[in-house]
Amino acid sequence: MQDSDVMAKMAASMVEGGEDSFRKIFKFYRRRNPPPDLSDVIDFSRCAPVNLDTAAVSDVEATRVGLQPVREWRAFGLRGHPGTRSRQSLNKVWMRAVWFNSVRLPAGKREARTLLERLRWVTLGYHYNWDTKTYSPSSHTPFPRDLHLLSAHVTAACGFPGFISEAGILNYYRSDSSLGIHVDESELDHTRPLLSFSFGQSAIFLLGGPRRQDPPRAMLMHSGDVMVMSGPSRLLYHAVPRILPAPPGRLALETGGSIQTPPPQEGSVVEPVSEEEWAVCSRYIQSSRVNVTVRQVLAPGQKFPETPRSHQTTDPGQTDGYDDGENGKRKRSSSDSPYAAETH
Ligand code: OGA
Ligand code: MN
Repeated sequence: MQDSDVMAKMAASMVEGGEDSFRKIFKFYRRRNPPPDLSDVIDFSRCAPVNLDTAAVSDVEATRVGLQPVREWRAFGLRGHPGTRSRQSLNKVWMRAVWFNSVRLPAGKREARTLLERLRWVTLGYHYNWDTKTYSPSSHTPFPRDLHLLSAHVTAACGFPGFISEAGILNYYRSDSSLGIHVDESELDHTRPLLSFSFGQSAIFLLGGPRRQDPPRAMLMHSGDVMVMSGPSRLLYHAVPRILPAPPGRLALETGGSIQTPPPQEGSVVEPVSEEEWAVCSRYIQSSRVNVTVRQVLAPGQKFPETPRSHQTTDPGQTDGYDDGENGKRKRSSSDSPYAAETH
């Protein structure tokens, strides 16, 4: 790195009036009135395409999990951030599968609607403990096979064979929700990539640097997008300051959208969802966003330590429940929600 680059980086991350640049940019994008200028938000269709390993997943394997052949996927890398992202490779089948694996509520019931409105997160596999910021072998349910196969195929195509999906965190965002600045470091093995699948409404995703105050870059996440944070990008700070309406046609979950539901496949691993359940899900994502992150917690053969590790967050964060993005904890905020004060 040039000296001038170092100086510029230092200047950009300098705390001004108690605010570092990540927090400033987070607040900029979260602002309601006037709405923020989105012209600096990265449009991936203009980024450099990344080659995928088309031999890593056969067409039959892809079809079985409801995906197009890998050669049809479009993947992009962010310069300076060697993570990979592929777009429009997921479809209604996967939104259904995610729903099936997390929310199973009877359609049309009043209580179900209220519960859905209040839903903020679900955990899968090794269940994440938000207080201790740890996973533990004593809080575990089998990781859904279909979501694991999807994750294993996506990571293999990105050049990371042998991924084992061990924990999943589903975040449910209303139009005014946000996710505070954080880094995902509770997994015991950081050499494995972290996958993020998005459905429903769009979001601005801020990807920063290895230090919390490093200035982030803003990018759009749309329904069907997959982000893979790998290598040096695995431990970068990030946040979601804002949910945006999905552009017309991008929800693409209805018949006739740009992503077609393939006919049921022989040998398909994706669990079917009833039409009633699908109706609840498809209504939900008309106004909400669902994000699923899939994590490998342990290296192959690794065991959890005998005594629980003390929590390892880098920043004390805030405690008043108002999320302005400055906390190093994972905190969710939604102004109309009883969950606003919860740390996430
Ligand atoms: C997470 C996360 C990002 C998103 O769950 O750790 O960073 O796009 N989610 O919702
Ligand atoms: Mn995260």
